[in-house]
Amino acid sequence: MTRHLITSAIPYINGIKHLGNLVGSQLPADLFARYQRGRGNEVMFLCATDEHGTPAELAAAKAGQPVAEYCAEMHEVQSKIAEGFRLSFDHFGRSSSDQNRKLTQHFAGVLNQQGLIREVSETQMYSPTDGRFLPDRYIEGTCPNCGYDSARGDQCDNCTKQLDPVDLINPHSTISGATDLEMRETKHLYLRQSAMKDQLDAWIDSKSDWPVLTTSIAKKWLHDGDGLQDRGITRDLDWGVPVMNGDQPWPGMEGKVFYVWFDAPIEYIACAQEWVDAGKGTDWERWWRTDKGATDVTYTQFMGKDNVPFHTLSFPATILGSGEPWKLVDFIKSFNYLNYDGGQFSTSRGRGVFMDQALDILPADYWRWWLLSHAPESSDSEFTWEGFQAGVNKDLADVLGNLVSRVTKFCRSKFKEVVPEGGTTAAEDKGSADKEGHYLLHELRERLEAYQTHMDAIEVRKAATELRAIWVAGNEYLQAAAPWTVYKTDPEKAAAQIRLALNLIRLYAVLSAPFIPDTAAKMLDTLGTTDDSWPDDIYSALTTLPAGHAFTVPDVLFAKITDEQREDWQTRFAGIRT
Ligand code: MF3
Ligand code: ZN
Repeated sequence: MTRHLITSAIPYINGIKHLGNLVGSQLPADLFARYQRGRGNEVMFLCATDEHGTPAELAAAKAGQPVAEYCAEMHEVQSKIAEGFRLSFDHFGRSSSDQNRKLTQHFAGVLNQQGLIREVSETQMYSPTDGRFLPDRYIEGTCPNCGYDSARGDQCDNCTKQLDPVDLINPHSTISGATDLEMRETKHLYLRQSAMKDQLDAWIDSKSDWPVLTTSIAKKWLHDGDGLQDRGITRDLDWGVPVMNGDQPWPGMEGKVFYVWFDAPIEYIACAQEWVDAGKGTDWERWWRTDKGATDVTYTQFMGKDNVPFHTLSFPATILGSGEPWKLVDFIKSFNYLNYDGGQFSTSRGRGVFMDQALDILPADYWRWWLLSHAPESSDSEFTWEGFQAGVNKDLADVLGNLVSRVTKFCRSKFKEVVPEGGTTAAEDKGSADKEGHYLLHELRERLEAYQTHMDAIEVRKAATELRAIWVAGNEYLQAAAPWTVYKTDPEKAAAQIRLALNLIRLYAVLSAPFIPDTAAKMLDTLGTTDDSWPDDIYSALTTLPAGHAFTVPDVLFAKITDEQREDWQTRFAGIRT
């Protein structure tokens, strides 16, 4: 038995995520967690909401709520939706937790002791009216490039030019509208990542099995331009983890908080502490401290490509720089983007399908299957309603659903709702005359091997392709064996074929559960079994349900998506969510 620590990038608190976010981290992480559990391994699967920073402040202001209240509510909302998608987190934490505040302050303190923090004086826009420094997004003015009058301090949305707040003509605060902005001196802490460049570089080099998408982004940041830069880890904001030197005040840093990207990944660790404090477990250190048993843990992170620099460089700099025995990540699985119908999914512009909307129109498994089988691994991929309809109807309804329905209904009509007795199957007896059965078992053995290899390597699309082929093999078996014809002349043989096919359905439930957990559970339930053990050996896996075992014919597993539905959704989701 191996031990797997698995984390998904923690989603920002500011609103419900779209399907592109889901397929870029949480969903493949869940697939992997379920697979590892299915294989009998020990898993700790963690995720949380990322609650600090200006996006949270802005979203709360827009909702007219105090930020802490807004975050608490949105955490519940995201948590419910995650359950709806069957994301099987051992704990869904909050980066604003006490545990994370303490741990973040602890890391800052030890990094400082290690000489890896320096103080830097900068000038920044200050609003006397608001009594605070204004982050770039809180300043608007006229774009010096195109004349657009609501350009933001960091970028003009009209001409896309990157800006500095001082470039803006007639800048004003978006909080109060105040125009009496001034440049003021302020002090910030920087993490001396540049001092750790060689160590990080060597560490990345040692990861020859990582996806190219992951290592190429890391290498770019390490070597492009002037190489890895030191990073500001504090901000002049109210909302966040107050800057402290361990449990001591940090002179000159009063009223400041840590930068959201400093505390967010630390939440991966704090989340395990939250898991203990929530009474769900007893020992978080055996997952996170190499001096407390975490040496035999394999740690895998999942994220979209925009998150890669923080996970390959900044967070490892925090961990390594601390000089403490924290568990470092072993494998980083990153994803490209999923596009929506000829454009991008966009939270800020409300474009695409959002997680709550998706669950309103179809059960989780439909989405899980399509998204995972189209995961943007080697390049960006695209969601279209036609593609979604075709994938669901073909793979889920025609192939898997149809097999289950044909086998169980045929059995009911000829042998009742009981695994039939008679003859021998290829799985029961290697000398059986069941030619088609032998052929099927041979194919399944090879495909199972390939499926496991892809799942172990987190090659999501390849794994989905293999699983689909495993389902197809079942249909081909039925076609070749043709029990409905055989029954007329040799009912004993037909009984054996159906016995094998019913066992095949159980096997499919087990293998498919990481992708479509609800349907898998329904299949097992239908078969009247709780035996969900992973097949070590195809032969014995296909003899689990003995003759005489009772089952029930299930309702339709997957309803086909009709053209009317597709067109209806197409129009409904063509616009912008408000
Ligand atoms: N909230 C970030 C995003 O959605 C991800 C943070 S991941 C962690 O892009 F490293 F910070 F935890
Ligand atoms: Zn402009």
